[in-house]
Amino acid sequence: EKGTYPHFMLKEIDEQPLVIRNIIAKYRNEEGEIELSQDIRDAILASDRIYIIAAGTSYHAGLIGKQFIERFAKIPVEVHVASEFSYNMPLLSENPFFIYISQSGETADSRAVLVQTNEMGYKALTITNVPGSTLSREADYTLLLHAGPEIAVASTKAYTAQLAVLAILSADIAYSKGLEIGFDLTQELGIIASAMEALCGDKEEMEQIAREYLATTRNCFFIGRSLDFYVGLEGALKLKEISYIQAEGFAGGELKHGTIALIENGTPVIALATQEYVNLGIRGNVKEVVARGANPCIISMEGLEMEGDRYVLPAVNEALTPLVSVIPLQLISYYAALHRECDVDKPRNLAKSVTVE
Ligand code: M6R
Repeated sequence: EKGTYPHFMLKEIDEQPLVIRNIIAKYRNEEGEIELSQDIRDAILASDRIYIIAAGTSYHAGLIGKQFIERFAKIPVEVHVASEFSYNMPLLSENPFFIYISQSGETADSRAVLVQTNEMGYKALTITNVPGSTLSREADYTLLLHAGPEIAVASTKAYTAQLAVLAILSADIAYSKGLEIGFDLTQELGIIASAMEALCGDKEEMEQIAREYLATTRNCFFIGRSLDFYVGLEGALKLKEISYIQAEGFAGGELKHGTIALIENGTPVIALATQEYVNLGIRGNVKEVVARGANPCIISMEGLEMEGDRYVLPAVNEALTPLVSVIPLQLISYYAALHRECDVDKPRNLAKSVTVE
């Protein structure tokens, strides 16, 4: 039920701090430490390469999951769009392990790959929000998102829940390999939940940004480097699916290789700047688009902010910023859709779960 909310999407955006706290509680042992079941751990430790398979927003979560797993657990990861995997199957490693990320657990494209990898005899884990879903039943292992039902077609809380579970998985594998991740993940996730709360309390500002940049525009670009690039992809998907504004996310460094040709006077460019080691790089990209007339909206993070930034996010651990930086993008998309009188929860041509290939 929507309760007092005008749309499920807004309600689900607001639920994110609670979902993160829920996830911490579900994946913590009695000593307060992150702990996954031993069989999942053993299966992953026995593999030499992880293949993440997913679609849409879940694919975007997978791109960030790869960073978590490689940085923390030091296992190589490939991320594949489910619908492409079967006929573009990469040369698999000797001991592959498959992770299927799917909010609904019913996505036909992902299931088709699971059927195939099951037949090949490879072990698989499904990360899903729906216990008993097809992908959960057909995989060897399941990790639940514990996000509660997601009704709006545009995925929001499932995405941040996927990121949190992927971070937990990566940290658990790191610990069991005797590796340090350099911070206390449960504590950092707690800080993230509070930062999410602060952002959800700042809706007027998000509505204002949507009004300023997106009320009448035909298109919009999202740029970022490193983790911010992947969040930009998700921001662009969110915006296009509910507001029908043509949106594209790309790596800041790729601008000069083509996309910059599309920048005109007034083109909105939303730039994420949450990573210290690429901060100057992304700032340089903003200058490049501004020189061509773009209307830049820089979303940075406390500690990295510079004059002229449109919005500054509360500081969180640099490895985990996507959990926080996606919130303004979700809210900006929501308000853009609202201002343009779109059907926020049920955008045209889309279904909540895509059960055909
Ligand atoms: O249920 P799934 O996570 O497998 O769904 C995958 C995509 O269909 C889904 O994320 C889609 O892209 C959303 N509408 C995005 O908001």
